[in-house]
Amino acid sequence: MARGKFITFEGGEGAGKSTQVRRLAEHLRALGLDVVVTREPGGSPSAEAIRGLLLSGRVRALGTLGEAYLFAAARMDHIAETIEPALERGAWVICDRFADSTRVYQGAADGLDVEIVDDLERIAVGNCRPDLTIVIDLPVDVGLARVAGRSGNGTGDRFEAEAVAVHEARRQGFLGVAAANPDRCVVIDGAREADAVTSDIAALVTGRFGLAIGGRA
Ligand SMILES: Nc1ncnc2c1ncn2[C@@H]1O[C@H](COP(=O)(O)OP(=O)(O)OP(=O)(O)O)[C@@H](O)[C@H]1O
Ligand SMILES: [Mg+2]
Repeated sequence: MARGKFITFEGGEGAGKSTQVRRLAEHLRALGLDVVVTREPGGSPSAEAIRGLLLSGRVRALGTLGEAYLFAAARMDHIAETIEPALERGAWVICDRFADSTRVYQGAADGLDVEIVDDLERIAVGNCRPDLTIVIDLPVDVGLARVAGRSGNGTGDRFEAEAVAVHEARRQGFLGVAAANPDRCVVIDGAREADAVTSDIAALVTGRFGLAIGGRA
């Protein structure tokens, strides 16, 4: 069995990542592929426990570096327990956020040294790099309006409740990651109707991996 493909979705809050992850998974399953949907932080029992700590803000006192260690620890377990076993058995893995989110949130937007980000990524990710990263880009105010609509109260978790300037820095951070990794990353305009975004992504993935309608890779 050929190794599966590893596809990650990145972008700011409310970009439509989780929506498009679900839809791409449906599309690929309809083509007959075995698809595993997962997310970060989390994606394995131990990593989900760490996710709870990170999103609660209770470990904010550890500082950006301490948080980055926790993200790395969660990522190592997620890869070992969920991602690698799936890829090895030939499943396609679609992950909602991955290492680029650490690079952008703790690095570009939160000031963690890029050397440290590089080191932690090398240690945690090793060779388990995505075959394709879809960066969903949209203006910060559009994404925040969507998130406010979703949660209904506008408070959200610790990573949502921050100033617009921080969100803008993250947007530029994701665009910077995409520009620095043009073979791996594709930027998709997420400010359109969800259906338009979905069909762009389906066409991108179908073309990139040579998937025929109704057939296997
Ligand atoms: N293209 C779109 N146009 C309008 N609304 C959308 C679009 N895509 C998603 N939404 C809605 O916007 C909200 C945020 O979408 P979603 O949860 O997919 O974003 P996300 O990138 O996963 O956000 P987060 O980073 O907070 O997890 C949801 O209520 C979703 O239904
Ligand atoms: Mg989401």
